[in-house]
Amino acid sequence: MSNKYYIKTFGCQMNEYDSEKIGGVLSKNIQLTETSAPEDADLIILNTCSIREKAEVKVFSDLGRFRELKEKNPALRIAVGGCVASQEGENIIKRAPYVDLVFGPQSLHRVSELLSKRESSGKPQIDISFPEIEKFDYLPIINKNHVSASVSIMEGCSKYCSFCVVPFTRGEEISRPLEGILNEIVRLTFNGVCEITLLGQNVNAYRGEMSNGDIADFALLLEYVAEIKEIKRIRFTTSHPNEMSDSLINCFSSIDKLAKTIHLPIQSGSDRVLSAMKRNYTTLEYRSIIRKIRKICPEISLTSDFIIGFPNETDKEFESTIKLMKDLEFDYSFSFLYSPRPGTPASYIDDNIPNKIKQQRLEKLQSLNMLQGKAYTELMQGTNQRVLFDHFSKKNKNILLGKTDNNRIVETNANSGLLNKFVNVKIAHANSKNLQIEPITS
Ligand code: SAH
Ligand code: F3S
Repeated sequence: MSNKYYIKTFGCQMNEYDSEKIGGVLSKNIQLTETSAPEDADLIILNTCSIREKAEVKVFSDLGRFRELKEKNPALRIAVGGCVASQEGENIIKRAPYVDLVFGPQSLHRVSELLSKRESSGKPQIDISFPEIEKFDYLPIINKNHVSASVSIMEGCSKYCSFCVVPFTRGEEISRPLEGILNEIVRLTFNGVCEITLLGQNVNAYRGEMSNGDIADFALLLEYVAEIKEIKRIRFTTSHPNEMSDSLINCFSSIDKLAKTIHLPIQSGSDRVLSAMKRNYTTLEYRSIIRKIRKICPEISLTSDFIIGFPNETDKEFESTIKLMKDLEFDYSFSFLYSPRPGTPASYIDDNIPNKIKQQRLEKLQSLNMLQGKAYTELMQGTNQRVLFDHFSKKNKNILLGKTDNNRIVETNANSGLLNKFVNVKIAHANSKNLQIEPITS
């Protein structure tokens, strides 16, 4: 036994966070250490994603590779966690009988327990239950060796958009109590963390219990986090248009530490499609939210998610999405081809749009988005930006890199003494991939 685990993470930031926690449980409870080489591991974990079909297919092709390792080393244990595990449950063992553990996003704190049950029973173990918010009571705080960290503030989603598996794989929306979140952030600051990203499927739907029994909303949580002196920049992802309260919008002017960027998925620019997606807002309502945010914070960068090729989306409907993207001048956004997900209402709709057309639409939208993102970058030339310099360039160790509020990479000289510091800089050139700054004099 080398007492090592290897973990591969697919999908979103929530999964990245969960993977860190799985590692924490394994090192705390059974003293395993991480390896980046699967062939050196006693335990291989795939923390999976099922948001789109492509993500799922990758999991099964990886499992095939790890099966060969197990044939050579029968003591190797293979675990599948995350959303594919949650969705497929025992089907995973049926399809890949060499898998030893299957656990969902809400039962990951039990991974070491499941492993010992696997040894004592000699049988594969499956736990894809949703035991309330218990998980957070059992998860160790990870000693980050990085200045930027993420903290999950809630689990699951109760919005049930017609195309989405998240409510089924991660369960209903449930918020962590306020104090637990603040404690975790304060503990992270002891290790030098100064930038925090608050994570959740709909962070702005946060309703967490406070120690006096009151309920804090997301705006209040932000105010509390901003009170933590060592935290210098706060980010959050993702938010839902229907939960953009005025008090949250006001935070963009009242909380200086809040990064001036917001990711607000719209999905489509057509009201008919939005209604079929069960998003529960119209394009007019979305536009009016953006107007409000920009009034409070004119320099905010706005990013979004778009789904192209929702069943029976017409050319005209697609063109309204293009128009909306132009009108609202989004920064670099994410766009995906619609992928029917098992069990979701949209997957039962007969679709008459050929894949080729969908692909063309996606390309058109993505090239418009690239142009808009670039234009946004160019506009940053000459502006002052707040940057956290946190790592050296892999290609050139003489270059130190950092990020602006809107996630543009800024470079400076490695000897500038700016590592792990927040600095206000003036952007000198903004025409290449990275932004260059004017020399810092003070
Ligand atoms: N609340 C989260 C949603 C997570 S899913 C958020 O707002 O980010 C992230 C994105 O994946 C969604 O916004 C949507 O654009 C995309 N997505 C979800 N289900 C999809 C599907 N079935 N096909 C294609 N894209 C999908
Ligand atoms: Fe999915 Fe809609 Fe929730 S996209 S995560 S069901 S807000």
